[in-house]
Amino acid sequence: MQTFAVEVKGLTKKFGSFTALDNLNLNIALGTVYGLLGPNGAGKTTAIKILCGLLRPNGGEGYVLGKKVPNRSILPEIGYMPQETALYLDLTVHGNMALYGDLFGLSRSRIAERESELLDFVALQKWKDSLVSNLSGGMKHRVSLACSMIHEPKLLFLDEPTVGVDPELRAAFWEYFDLLKKKGVTIVLTTHYMDEAQHCDRIALLRQGQLLAEGTPGDVIKSAGATNLEEAFLALAKREDGRS
Ligand SMILES: Nc1ncnc2c1ncn2[C@@H]1O[C@H](COP(=O)(O)OP(=O)(O)O)[C@@H](O)[C@H]1O
Ligand SMILES: [Mg+2]
Repeated sequence: MQTFAVEVKGLTKKFGSFTALDNLNLNIALGTVYGLLGPNGAGKTTAIKILCGLLRPNGGEGYVLGKKVPNRSILPEIGYMPQETALYLDLTVHGNMALYGDLFGLSRSRIAERESELLDFVALQKWKDSLVSNLSGGMKHRVSLACSMIHEPKLLFLDEPTVGVDPELRAAFWEYFDLLKKKGVTIVLTTHYMDEAQHCDRIALLRQGQLLAEGTPGDVIKSAGATNLEEAFLALAKREDGRS
């Protein structure tokens, strides 16, 4: 019986002599919303890319749905929304969604169904026939999010899904993530907005490639003797600096 959607054991990634991830250990339970939090440069994107098989670690191992990464066989089961949107700018919104649907072997009718559901979710139904190049950055981001889910993956890796999204839609996103969770989907997302952590079952607080704290948002705040996550991050960072 597989209990974890993601297991990270001693994961290390270096770019030249620079260490972007330093011996990271994490377990992410199936059917949870898990947040990788931390400021820019903390190593969040690097961790997600390794788990999605796009980067090879220099040390340690990552397991996704029980399989050691990189592993092509998990690709149909995972959805990945990169931080930099990977869309075809000279295709329409519909064209992009159909392309992603095709890549995953969905039938025309299934693509049409999923497209309709997902464009409702990201509030882009009326932009369906617009060229992606004509959309704003935030809208491209929403198309990218919709494309990552077209094949109903059971595990989603979302790199900064709420960046550039207005507050109302952001709230709708969190509601939808909750709905997916209720259906058993596991969501691993990154954010540098500390206040978004409240929506996560558990979080990992990263800084300079290292894990500062892990647990429920409440646990992390408590362990730092803080009243909110922003404060907790600062207190834990200071504690860490005091040690080195
Ligand atoms: N391909 C790369 N070559 C060199 N350095 C990189 C590369 N990718 C990321 N880094 C560095 O690794 C660190 C972590 O980056 P990243 O994982 O993108 O952080 P985050 O997503 O938390 O902002 C940063 O200092 C970044 O500059
Ligand atoms: Mg990033």
